[in-house]
Amino acid sequence: MVSFWKVVGITVGAILVVGAVVGSLTWGFLANRGPPPPELVPLDWWEHTVIYQIYPRSFKDSDGDGIGDLKGITTQLDHLVDIGIGAIWMSPIFVSPMVDFGYDISDFYNIHEEYGTMADFEELVHKAHNLGLKILLDYVPNHASDQSEYFKRSLAREPGYENFFVWADPKLNPNNISERLVPSNWISEFGGSVWEWSETRQQYYLHQFAKEQVDFNFRDPAVRAEMLNIMEYWFNKGADGYRVDAVAHLFEADPNDHGGVYPDEPLSGNMFLRPNETGYTTQEYTRHLIELYDVIYEWRNFSDSYKEQNKSDTKILLAEAYANITMTMLYYGDEAGRDGAHFPFNFELINSLSGKSSARDFVYVIKRWLTYMPAGRIANWVFGNHDQMRMPTRFRVNMVDGMNSLSMLLPGVAITYQGEEIGMRDGYVSWEDTVDVAACNQGNPDNYMQYSRDPARTPFHWDNTTSAGFSTNATTWLPIAQDYMEINLRKQQETERSHYKVYKSLVNLRKEPALSHGSYHLQALTESTFILIRHIITYDTYALLFNVGDVEDTVDLSTIALLRDPLTVHVSSIHSSRVNGDTVSRGGATLRAGEALVLRAPPT
Ligand code: NOJ
Ligand code: MG
Repeated sequence: MVSFWKVVGITVGAILVVGAVVGSLTWGFLANRGPPPPELVPLDWWEHTVIYQIYPRSFKDSDGDGIGDLKGITTQLDHLVDIGIGAIWMSPIFVSPMVDFGYDISDFYNIHEEYGTMADFEELVHKAHNLGLKILLDYVPNHASDQSEYFKRSLAREPGYENFFVWADPKLNPNNISERLVPSNWISEFGGSVWEWSETRQQYYLHQFAKEQVDFNFRDPAVRAEMLNIMEYWFNKGADGYRVDAVAHLFEADPNDHGGVYPDEPLSGNMFLRPNETGYTTQEYTRHLIELYDVIYEWRNFSDSYKEQNKSDTKILLAEAYANITMTMLYYGDEAGRDGAHFPFNFELINSLSGKSSARDFVYVIKRWLTYMPAGRIANWVFGNHDQMRMPTRFRVNMVDGMNSLSMLLPGVAITYQGEEIGMRDGYVSWEDTVDVAACNQGNPDNYMQYSRDPARTPFHWDNTTSAGFSTNATTWLPIAQDYMEINLRKQQETERSHYKVYKSLVNLRKEPALSHGSYHLQALTESTFILIRHIITYDTYALLFNVGDVEDTVDLSTIALLRDPLTVHVSSIHSSRVNGDTVSRGGATLRAGEALVLRAPPT
């Protein structure tokens, strides 16, 4: 009993507690028949879904130009239905000169030509919705392409657009007044000054990313209004929500608060960075400014009223912010009761864990999110995206099934970056083939790999034919990773045990009440193995045992009260000696390096 209450006490959603408490009150009367099942409070569509990130350029090419496109995505929707995911988030598909592959938008209201037409988009949405898949778009509010009409108008000081971007006069050198100095020492995320000189306006403009990505001025009400127009436009076209890009960068320090000048940032003291590299200064005037949260709360208000007025399903907003835990949690909402994003992405597993982490590191990092998360909010788990090393490369290749199991068994929303379901690893991209602006701007043939995001963006491996079935063209915008003959979807569908099959059973398992509504219990059993238990009275209990170490490990499960015999294997990693239906002894179980087992235990 004690452990039951303890577990319920730390549960994610108050949602299930209500049901459990109601259930427990009636126990006395039904003692010999056992407790009745708790009422499973219905969840909104997004609260327990699996979101699958598509990087459109690299998912599927339908017209043979070597570049993925919308029709390609539409033809592969069956794969997404097959693996059981609930929503897709597509990285930007809007008109763009592609300096940052779509994160530099020149027309926020139209589809990028290489990706297709508005009709292709409409067809994709229509088909996806018919298949029960939600569609999330990428909302890029921080900046626009320097080719956008907004920027052209602002350059020309057209009324209404004059302050659309952050313009600043040069700083004067008191010793040489003919010298033009940048307004401040701020450094862009892709290296070099955030300030770029415009001959036309005889002023600097600010860009926190590439110089072709010009930062909007969020202190201009016209910008705020335009952002809502864009949001509404795609809601009207059927988008079910947005991933919101680079929100930490929405505001920079206001000269009005600093004696009329843009204040220099102190140096960070990081000796490993060169003076033109991001992080060389503290970034205290360029990131996580408190004003930005008002904008997030404003957007949430807008999406909630949209839902209300149009009687639509919930339109969700997911914030992308690499911030410390406190500032991250503020994206959920504030103590005054204002709601923010439905969730900020949880990058803790990317930032704080690796293939060298111990079981305790895993437990600590996972619990950190759940500890700081405000009550009643929904958690989420991210292992990779188009900006990060792929999951099997960052961890170890024998950890793929364990990582996917973790993602699917933890409470809340699971997020999958395309290819994680088949364990795709980083591709090799030579310096000559490198196209990522972050690497091209800051790198050279010797060090570009430390900046390049291309290895995580190589095309999806459908099969072992030309270009891994991604394109009929043997030349693709980024090279195909060399391991595609071994690691591809078709092969994994045909093999008896594969990452794909493990992934599919895991997603399917999420229908179990223990996973959708149960409490969680997480504990390191040894230095390298931890257990995650999902439990709800009267239903089967599920537990993940995961040896994250690189040697075999034996664990004792006999003292874990929530686990009752018989413990049967429901899912096992492909290199495990165990198969479905095997029983595991509570007295002692030995797991190979990287092995993961999802066990089913009878109800308590
Ligand atoms: C975050 C995106 O994920 C990344 O790819 C992009 O370069 C920056 N934001 C700027 O938009
Ligand atoms: Mg194409």
